[in-house]
Amino acid sequence: MPSLAVIGHPVAHTRSPAMQTAALAELKLAGEWTYGAIDIEPGSFEAEVAELAAAGDYAGVNVTLPHKEAALALADEASEGARAIGAANTLTFRDGRILADNTDAGGVLRSLPAGIGGGADAAGAAGASARRALVLGAGGAARAAIWALAQGGEGAPDAEGNPTLVPSFEVDVWNRTPERAVTVAAELGGRAVSDPPAADYALIVNTTSVGLHGEDPFASLPLAATDFHPGQVVFDIVYGPEPSALLAAAEDRGATTIEGLEMLVQQGALSLRIWTGAEPSIEAMRTGARRS
Ligand code: ATR
Repeated sequence: MPSLAVIGHPVAHTRSPAMQTAALAELKLAGEWTYGAIDIEPGSFEAEVAELAAAGDYAGVNVTLPHKEAALALADEASEGARAIGAANTLTFRDGRILADNTDAGGVLRSLPAGIGGGADAAGAAGASARRALVLGAGGAARAAIWALAQGGEGAPDAEGNPTLVPSFEVDVWNRTPERAVTVAAELGGRAVSDPPAADYALIVNTTSVGLHGEDPFASLPLAATDFHPGQVVFDIVYGPEPSALLAAAEDRGATTIEGLEMLVQQGALSLRIWTGAEPSIEAMRTGARRS
């Protein structure tokens, strides 16, 4: 019976087991597959993962903070995205080998509304500003977002369920500590900015922890509530217990908002697809994650 798990430290509050178990149930795989949570301290990560991989009952694991860089380092093989981003959130154990992927990148693109940036027709009518994105932050989540948006790739299915393409975006990167923005932008295909024209972006992605504990996002981020407008997409990648003040302000001004829970669901769905080869129900995963 293949086992799956999320590995983190701490991992007690993770919603992944509830979300993935809901997906497995919907796929009628719940009798065969299980998904749990394993708390592993940084010092023993490598040895314990090697043991899991060698034991044979685990098909793979999700990896979360603080182990994503270590997960890439111990893999025998890694996807292009994991290598570029420098971190892996998905390990697959196959034929005695460990394969690393980063589904955070694909999760970002699949969280966006289908057709964003003009979709596959991006070079046409949509125009340049439709493909301008601002990423706030320079940590691990920012790295995945910058790389994904600068590359483009498969997006959410359209209303008929057909695959869509997110075109590559011109990505501006702002960070509180500007030198970090310069470094990640240079590595991942963005451009560091110190005073971004927030109203001009089709997409604003917040990857900072600002707002998670009820702070005023406009006191720390280079944004004003008046920058938001209809037609703009505002995505708060970090999942928090409350609806964020940033998204509430964006919604008030008519922008389309995406919460961090969607990112959790989409990266998890891509991981489950890698392990099982099946296409999980996004709706079942959203419900499972919300309930937990
Ligand atoms: P992760 O890997 O989870 O994305 P991280 O590396 O801890 O997280 O990065 C957190 C991000 O939030 C950083 O971009 C951080 O900015 P600094 O690089 O200047 O530290 C940003 N951040 C945290 N608190 C902030 C605040 N009060 N104002 C602005 N940015 C903040």
